[in-house]
Amino acid sequence: MRAFPYVPLEAKGWRMAMGLRPLDMDQWLEVDERRDVELEEKRQLLASKYDAVVATNPAGDEGSAELLSDVTAFLATHFSNFTTVTSPDDHPIVAASRVVQEDLCVLVRSDAWRLQAACVCFPSRWNLASKLGTTLDDIHRPVPGYDVELSRPTNAFFERLKPERSFWRLNWTLIDNPALHQPTSARHSPDGDLDNWYFRVERQTLRRLPHSDAIIFTIRNYVTSARNLCDADAAFGETLLLNLDTAPDAMLEYKGWRGVADRLRESLSAT
Ligand code: HEM
Repeated sequence: MRAFPYVPLEAKGWRMAMGLRPLDMDQWLEVDERRDVELEEKRQLLASKYDAVVATNPAGDEGSAELLSDVTAFLATHFSNFTTVTSPDDHPIVAASRVVQEDLCVLVRSDAWRLQAACVCFPSRWNLASKLGTTLDDIHRPVPGYDVELSRPTNAFFERLKPERSFWRLNWTLIDNPALHQPTSARHSPDGDLDNWYFRVERQTLRRLPHSDAIIFTIRNYVTSARNLCDADAAFGETLLLNLDTAPDAMLEYKGWRGVADRLRESLSAT
């Protein structure tokens, strides 16, 4: 089995940070052995819940069209063995999303950077429709501490982002359900203990498109059993515990992690 690709826990305890790193454009989008399964899941969601997973305003059309042509060019260059047939009947952001494992968002500058088109089949407990047309600050309103710690640097980063230099970052969470499609924002504490929990990582990329001037935000999800990560590396369990123990109360509430550290401590001491 392939090793889990990203474990973005802070070694010294919880920290909320932009954590942006320069992106090598050869690694813009990632492909792995789950491609067929995930693309099929997207196909089913688009057939059964289109309005839950797609949201578009006309302001996002130009950026979406440029995104589609970049996605097909990227696949043709890096994965030329794939057939990436896109349908002209699809909105371009949907056509692009059908051929990659990533979820795709287009932000366009007007009075502020606003989310103007998105195809998000695999949300980590948030509601896409409610975010369409809104600003970065509004999108992040539920995130405790974002307004004080991240709003200013994130807005400044969006203003400065250039097509020649793209970036990526990682987020993680601990949940009790391995499903990729989790659209409900209800935050509940994961049931059970370590044996029932999953470590879910989002790899996000940010780039500015040269022609439409839109900013593209991609989100790729990786999920694995938290127990398996602990078994593979004892330091994982200890660092996870440290991060849960040092996260602020409001963050524990937001993430649905109340009481989780104590149950993790018990699981770790029982092994
Ligand atoms: C530099 C850019 C960005 C930074 C530093 C950032 C940071 C964050 C952080 C720290 C969280 C809390 C997540 C967690 O750990 O669970 C979050 C949540 C979120 N972010 Fe971002 N973010 C960025 C860009 C974006 C963009 C461009 C979008 C556009 C769709 C976005 C959409 C969201 C959403 C939907 C949530 C969940 C909010 C909710 O609970 O309703 N983020 N972001």
